[in-house]
Amino acid sequence: MLTASEVTKRFGGLTAVDSVDFSIDRGEIVGLIGPNGAGKTTLFNSIAGVYTPENGSIAFDGEELVGKSPHEIARQGISRTFQTARTFNESTVLDNVLAGAAFGKKDSGSLDEERENVWEYLEFIGLEDEAEADASSLTIAHRKQLELARALASEPDLILVDEIGSGLTPAELGELSEDLQKTRDEFGISVFWIEHVMDAIMAATDRIIVLNQGEKIADGAPKRVQQDPHVAEAYLGGVEAQR
Ligand SMILES: Nc1ncnc2c1ncn2[C@@H]1O[C@H](COP(=O)(O)OP(=O)(O)O)[C@@H](O)[C@H]1O
Ligand SMILES: [Mg+2]
Repeated sequence: MLTASEVTKRFGGLTAVDSVDFSIDRGEIVGLIGPNGAGKTTLFNSIAGVYTPENGSIAFDGEELVGKSPHEIARQGISRTFQTARTFNESTVLDNVLAGAAFGKKDSGSLDEERENVWEYLEFIGLEDEAEADASSLTIAHRKQLELARALASEPDLILVDEIGSGLTPAELGELSEDLQKTRDEFGISVFWIEHVMDAIMAATDRIIVLNQGEKIADGAPKRVQQDPHVAEAYLGGVEAQR
């Protein structure tokens, strides 16, 4: 479904993503891990059209994404959540989800129709009782779930999830991890999921891709990746560099 080849994104002299190849199949949950600064978010931004890679191709259902705007890419069926949840905090929970349906969907209906449709996603994350509350009144974990619901309401084929676990307790992350598995199982949406901590996504993913200093160093079953000496070395190197 998504096929990237030789994707390279530079910032001045720094190569943040360095000739990366990967693919994601329909219905897969794929983890993207790597030490801080490995280029994970930059790769997401390159897929989502926030950045235009200097080199390489990113094809989605056979259509080239490089050169398209974030809005066009969203309408083509890729939605996302952010490392720090970007909910509209002055708006109600319902209106936040409605925004996903109204602006991200391929064929959105009238606002009244969409207002009916989005209840499914509010119920999915269990925030239907909070529908009329301001998003600002929610906990961080609930805001992350709200952002997931907004992304789902645009009815994507693929969802990019950037560190949904940051700022959450292990129990809250466990719940969001279940939501992501249900995203695939109930809606058939593929999930590409960045997490800084490897353990958190080991159990929930079909496959894990590892970036280090912009390069892909591993791509395979979670167990195999976990035992890969190159991966351990990259993480240890990152810890050393931060000392
Ligand atoms: N907009 C930007 N301008 C300049 N450098 C950037 C920008 N975004 C990211 N970088 C750099 O690119 C590298 C990769 O960053 P990032 O993709 O955010 O890593 P990760 O998400 O894996 O922690 C880092 O060295 C970071 O400082
Ligand atoms: Mg990041």
